[in-house]
Amino acid sequence: MNTILVGLQWGDEGKGKIIDYLCRDKDIIVRFQGGNNAGHTVVINGNKFVFHLIPSGILREGKICAIGNGTVIDPAVLIEEIKSLSAAHVDVSPENLKISMLAHVIMPYHRLMDALREKNEIRKIGTTKRGIGPCYMDKVSRFGIRIVDLIDPEIFERKLKENLKEKNPLFKKVYGDKGFSFHAIYEEYCKFAKQLKPYACDLVDFFYKEKTKSFLFEGAQGAFLDVDFGTYPYVTSSTTLSTNAISGSGLSFVKADEIIGVTKAYTTRVGEGPFPTELDDATGEYFRKKGKEFGATTGRPRRCGWLDLALLKRSVILNNVTSIVLTKLDILDDLPCIQVCTGYKEKNRSCEGFPIDLARITPVYATMPGWKTNTENIRKYAQLPQEAKNYISAIEEYLGCPVAYVSVGEMRDAIIKKDK
Ligand code: GDP
Ligand code: IMO
Ligand code: MG
Repeated sequence: MNTILVGLQWGDEGKGKIIDYLCRDKDIIVRFQGGNNAGHTVVINGNKFVFHLIPSGILREGKICAIGNGTVIDPAVLIEEIKSLSAAHVDVSPENLKISMLAHVIMPYHRLMDALREKNEIRKIGTTKRGIGPCYMDKVSRFGIRIVDLIDPEIFERKLKENLKEKNPLFKKVYGDKGFSFHAIYEEYCKFAKQLKPYACDLVDFFYKEKTKSFLFEGAQGAFLDVDFGTYPYVTSSTTLSTNAISGSGLSFVKADEIIGVTKAYTTRVGEGPFPTELDDATGEYFRKKGKEFGATTGRPRRCGWLDLALLKRSVILNNVTSIVLTKLDILDDLPCIQVCTGYKEKNRSCEGFPIDLARITPVYATMPGWKTNTENIRKYAQLPQEAKNYISAIEEYLGCPVAYVSVGEMRDAIIKKDK
């Protein structure tokens, strides 16, 4: 059974926790897009692990984790992640971690370009400043440096020189920045290359031989950060949808049996851009505080609001989702009533179809009673308060898609399988 798991909102839906749970019966877990803009959290016995590049399946023994061609890799971050996992006695070796030769490498000039663009405020996106966008820019403009280039000193030297020849004058002219010395980057990155070489491989070839194994694809970000279908330009620079799982990993011989969409029981967003159900009030603050809504990568406070079913419906369609995982239901526990967005209005008239510009519309809400009961320790669906079950049924009905699991806490075991 092969599963693609994706976020249905603006990221941080709790994908890391669900990957950790689902990968128990999978053999191979693959990241296929994004880079260390992602922050996927898994909490085990009070110990918190935040993954930026390595799939969240690495914590389970006997699994193979892979970072596909569709990702962008900051070598320093990956090496640090390997080191800190090893320090926590998690086995990471070239046996269980494979990196695609074709993944692109984030260079210092990508990070600087990202930061300068944000500082310049011509079009502030509120990026993670990890160099993600500029690295993908070089990839599609055919100027990028891939892992396969990095580990060949001669090719790396040539490509780095070409890049600096173009980029240094640009940094100087446009941003008044002094740019980069070839030698400093070359030396630093050759050291990274040595450390990462044992992990680099032809993933297609490796996995073709393992094609009968079961695969779990770990999406990063979420549907509304997708570069095409998200709230452009306030998006990330990759395709975050399920369709990219295969091309971002090269595993075209692997057929997806199910597509799981993860959503919080409310909504959050980090960075700039429209967010129809955002709450700039005490309830928003309640979500932030109780839900510990601070970015796992940058620590920024996340913007919080009610669940937006109209948005989710679009994500379910875009991803061809076959079942939903609803996370953070416990965060709603104290609320006397809950609002859900069931559609949009523009200039006081109901929108027909999905609005391209979410900044121009206002949400239409339905109100449901809360349950005022602690759900964190519940492990059986039948034991959930009736109002919580009604909330879940309303979500299923609106989306036309079953909820398979409900997560009620950050701990590994705080998850409820919903009976069909
Ligand atoms: P991801 O990027 O989708 O993996 O999500 P993040 O890790 O960035 O953010 C999700 C946060 O919510 C993490 O701190 C998780 O530990 C936490 N979390 C996940 N599921 C639940 C849940 O059901 N209840 C609570 N209270 N916390 C959860
Ligand atoms: P996970 O995988 C939440 C957001 C940034 C910014 C926009 C563009 O943990 O869900 P980028 O650095 O990608 O160019 O920033 O995308 N963003 C995320 N928000 N979760 C993420 O990943 C994100 N990755 C990027 O905040 O608004
Ligand atoms: Mg996250």
